[in-house]
Amino acid sequence: MEKLLKGKLPRHIAIIMDGNGRWAKKRFLPRIAGHKAGVSAVRNVVENCRRLGIEILTLYAFSSENWNRPSREVNALMDLLGDFLKSELKEMLKNNIRLTTIGEIERLPGSALKCLQSVCEETADNDGMILNLALSYGSRNEIIKAVRRIVSDYSEGKLTPSDINEERFSRYLFTANFPDPDLLIRTAGELRISNFLLWQLSYTELYVTNTLWPDFRKDDLIKALEDYQKRERKFGRTSEQIERENWKGKMCNPKDG
Ligand code: IPE
Ligand code: IPE
Ligand code: MG
Repeated sequence: MEKLLKGKLPRHIAIIMDGNGRWAKKRFLPRIAGHKAGVSAVRNVVENCRRLGIEILTLYAFSSENWNRPSREVNALMDLLGDFLKSELKEMLKNNIRLTTIGEIERLPGSALKCLQSVCEETADNDGMILNLALSYGSRNEIIKAVRRIVSDYSEGKLTPSDINEERFSRYLFTANFPDPDLLIRTAGELRISNFLLWQLSYTELYVTNTLWPDFRKDDLIKALEDYQKRERKFGRTSEQIERENWKGKMCNPKDG
């Protein structure tokens, strides 16, 4: 942990929490038992990210495609979400964590939606870590919604085609107020994005672990962060350019080195 703090930490971590079903299957348990076990991993990662001083933690909790799962599983996931929110509110207030969401949350059942909205409101003034839950979230849908709003603003004369640039477009997405993730972690080994943050991940560092989500603990997070700290983020430039800039930065701010 101490070694980590000396290096550069990501401001924004996003996680595709996958593998709950496989975790349960390995133990001859119903899939829902895997989701229940996954909730402990959520508590754990929230606490560890907060301690490390991560600014934003975005968790992919339910995709727009996950609505196609058997209704029993969907209902159980919605109940778990409600229970999690009710049990975590006190902890979030104590730890200065603000809850936000991305996705079509209006599709959630009334009881889960009510809990969600109330926790978001009650934690709105917290200025410690942001816990951002992706719920009923699909990135293609997010982009389509953005385009619809842009067209509507255009037809009302609020913008012209030349007003649209990357920065302006980003402001029409669910993630309008957040910087792009620096690090994406996917558990359970699949090498795909599964309709998550397609626009926002353009220059995000990707880290995939075979650990199943319910088993993901502090050591796994630290491994991901250590790996991240070894990466050279070039954003299209050459290593030499990056080195020169780092060197210049150190000359200007010798204490930061
Ligand atoms: C991730 O675990 C949780 C959700 C998608 C809600 P899965 O349920 O996808 O687990 P696997 O992929 O079947 O193991
Ligand atoms: C992605 O996992 C969605 C969440 C983690 C919430 P899935 O298990 O739904 O993804 P696929 O179907 O394997 O791509
Ligand atoms: Mg899965």
